[in-house]
Amino acid sequence: MKRILSGIQPTAESLHLGNYLGAVKQWVELQEGNDAFYCIVDLHALTIETEPAALRRRTLASAAQLIALGLDPKRCTLFIQSHLSEHNQLGWIFECITGFGEASRMTQFKDKSQKSGADRTVVGLFTYPMLQAADILLYQANKVPVGEDQRQHIELTRDLAQRFNSKYGDTFTVPEAHIMKASAKINDLQDPTAKMSKSAASNAGVIDILDSADVNAKKIKSAVTDTGKEVKFDEKSKPGISNLLTIHSSLSGKSIAELENEFIGKGYGDFKSAVAEVVTEYFAPVKVKAEELLKDEVGLIEILREGAEKARVVANRTLKSTYDALGLVPGKQFLP
Ligand code: TRP
Repeated sequence: MKRILSGIQPTAESLHLGNYLGAVKQWVELQEGNDAFYCIVDLHALTIETEPAALRRRTLASAAQLIALGLDPKRCTLFIQSHLSEHNQLGWIFECITGFGEASRMTQFKDKSQKSGADRTVVGLFTYPMLQAADILLYQANKVPVGEDQRQHIELTRDLAQRFNSKYGDTFTVPEAHIMKASAKINDLQDPTAKMSKSAASNAGVIDILDSADVNAKKIKSAVTDTGKEVKFDEKSKPGISNLLTIHSSLSGKSIAELENEFIGKGYGDFKSAVAEVVTEYFAPVKVKAEELLKDEVGLIEILREGAEKARVVANRTLKSTYDALGLVPGKQFLP
């Protein structure tokens, strides 16, 4: 079985449709036939200043939504990054073998630090990719399912694994990026040429999974479309309608051609109502399940702690061989 590892930052109250179709749906599929580890990377989220109560709430809400969307703690290892000190410990080792220039060339760091200026950029943003490498290499992952934006971080992770292995002996599996080509590209309802994203200027074009059916139906009915009448897929001249077709098709399982046929002679209004219905039906039980999990917070935390204990077995073993390879004298943490 292939070992899979991926991570998600708990930066939002609710996942949105783009998160689901672009990532989580594929995580759910990858549980089958693989040994999958999924990590809620709360330590990475500390690089953005967040109110403590919000971070806590978002961490638990992320876990609840992942489970409600189909991650099954019996079939995968779902855990919170900060439950395992091994992540920070291995992160430091990677900070010691990463060049300053190399880290400075990470485009996400460059973009984010340019936006906020050197004095407001925290060092954690600079070392973020080394902690991410630790997340991955601790578990000897073969494959890392991520979006295109993470390609460079996985490339660095591979470089660090190879560098360490050649200096200190074979210690880490060199992972491969499994770039999740969103089977469907989901765009913003108000700006259908831009990706659906929580950082959009307005939330009006974003379908949040935990929002009520009414709110989401309203957003879909006010989605931007062109002035034509035909429900036809054409990303250039009909980006809005094409986006809605993609959303319907991804959730209903009907092909785009089938949908085009179904809506011949009907207007945009009918079509939008149908999309709203599909979205509502798909996510209503997810919302119920997530809310149920959040109501029993102690139980939810227990599930995540059990995940962390499964993860610890692997993480501890990898850290021990890393320390041994480096000549660090192993402490009690590594005694049986
Ligand atoms: N940097 C990733 C993102 O922003 C999140 C992440 C942290 C991650 N650690 C990871 C993804 C390990 C994959 C594997 O999406």
